[in-house]
Amino acid sequence: MVRLQVLTADDWPLWREVRLAALTDAPHAFKATLADWHRGGEERWRARLTMPGAFHVVALQDGRAVGVAGGVPGADGVRELRSVWVGPEARGLGVGDLLLAAVEGWARRSGGTTLKLAVFPGNDAAIALYRRHGFADQSVDGVTGEQVMVKALHRAAGGP
Ligand SMILES: CC(C)(COP(=O)(O)OP(=O)(O)OC[C@H]1O[C@@H](n2cnc3c(N)ncnc32)[C@H](O)[C@@H]1OP(=O)(O)O)[C@@H](O)C(=O)NCCC(=O)NCCS
Repeated sequence: MVRLQVLTADDWPLWREVRLAALTDAPHAFKATLADWHRGGEERWRARLTMPGAFHVVALQDGRAVGVAGGVPGADGVRELRSVWVGPEARGLGVGDLLLAAVEGWARRSGGTTLKLAVFPGNDAAIALYRRHGFADQSVDGVTGEQVMVKALHRAAGGP
């Protein structure tokens, strides 16, 4: 059974655990490196969780963290999907779907109109997940070479 836990600043040890697991397992998938995150200690981990308007969620299986995703607010209704990772033992089971749905829900509730992400070319598992969730290619980041993908967040008819 997989359940999701939305993180608060006091959950920084869990955020650290799952983020370090992600960066160790899949360093090719992220711009950040293990060395970046090891600097700064507790304050660095807390800072991300207390970033105004940000959202972080962890997937737990039998109490163990097996996945993570985050969302940060940008300008003009843009919300960025960040830090998506599912542990190798939990892949192909729909955990990525749960995490993406949670971040999309946050993006909509917080008034976002576009959900945006960046993924390195060749990361086929991630790209397949994002396409299935309705993301389309927008551009290529000229600095990092990442593919930028976006999804328009339409409000439900009759909704607030
Ligand atoms: C990308 C990732 C989050 C997908 O998580 P997931 O929960 O396995 O997602 P899904 O079950 O929806 O699978 C997504 C795709 O992964 C592939 N996949 C399925 N089972 C898999 C398995 N057991 N092992 C590896 N890849 C698998 C498939 O291509 C699938 O796409 P499809 O359903 O259209 O065929 C996960 O593979 C991961 O964390 N990878 C390393 C970190 C990473 O790349 N993060 C994204 C940074 S932008």
